Amino acid sequence: MRSLILKSPAKLNLYLNVIGKRRDGYHSLYSLFERIDLCDEITLTARTDSAIKISSTSSQIPSNSSNLAYTAAQLLKETLKICSGVSIRIKKRIPVAAGLGGGSSNAASVLLGLNRLWRLGLTKKDFLRFSQQIGSDVPFFVCGNRFSIATGRGEKLKNVTSMKSLWHIVVVPRRKVSTKVVYKALRWNKTKSGASSCAKMTTYTNLLTKSRDNANMLIHALDRHNLPMAQRYVFNALEKPAVRLCPSISMIKRTLSSLGVEVCALSGSGPAVFGIVNSRKEAMRICRAVKAKQKQWQVFGVRTY
Ligand code: C5P
Repeated sequence: MRSLILKSPAKLNLYLNVIGKRRDGYHSLYSLFERIDLCDEITLTARTDSAIKISSTSSQIPSNSSNLAYTAAQLLKETLKICSGVSIRIKKRIPVAAGLGGGSSNAASVLLGLNRLWRLGLTKKDFLRFSQQIGSDVPFFVCGNRFSIATGRGEKLKNVTSMKSLWHIVVVPRRKVSTKVVYKALRWNKTKSGASSCAKMTTYTNLLTKSRDNANMLIHALDRHNLPMAQRYVFNALEKPAVRLCPSISMIKRTLSSLGVEVCALSGSGPAVFGIVNSRKEAMRICRAVKAKQKQWQVFGVRTY
């Protein structure tokens, strides 16, 4: 095999609560991930030398070792002592630094693709180990689930098989937002003792239980197409800090709401906002209306993938 073409899908976080801050600087999460059909395309081509080369249709992503797709190939090469090289071509459709997991998904596709191109015979456990070394969202894209509950820093995944496909509108403003900066801007509620909520084990357990209950209620509501109920449980703890950094997020939410979208929220650390609607027809109608109102936003009609 000389060449391989792979789809590299985006994700939405239908629910995302931040439970606490960990010693390693990351945050513990409770999140409901959904894979969507907004996809980049990755072409892997075997090289005659041992180099890793990246090229892309977008000027917004690096073509050097700071690209997560490069990190993924290099990790396999170094750990498994592989001499072969690879050219990685990325056809970009997923907006960059938007909270849609594009870079993480590209890295996951490279891991999955190189396993075939280089005939590595990697196991599920190997994929998990490699993917979590690259980034917190990479394990979700490697696991192949349409919906997952993610805990830990996002790498502990539980498949949610019960959920049916959903239709969405995804709106992305021009402004980029760094995930690191959004997490840094997160303000913790103070408990009565004055300690930040994440410092107390009882608070941690309560938050985890509350998150699990609310995410379950959201799943229940979506399975019954009960959008008013879903709106009560859709949540993203990163929304407040993200709005402080990118006020257009509130404008997008107001625009979607004025067009009759009952359920909308931020995905990941933003600034992408998604709405949940009942059908393809409704998604397309709202896409057209949003595009007509704001030319500088990117607007997509997408579904579960
Ligand atoms: O894991 P990843 O490299 O994608 O994360 C980007 C940044 O987001 C991290 O450097 C960290 O600041 C923040 N982050 C976090 N807790 C998580 C995931 C990400 O603090 N669970």
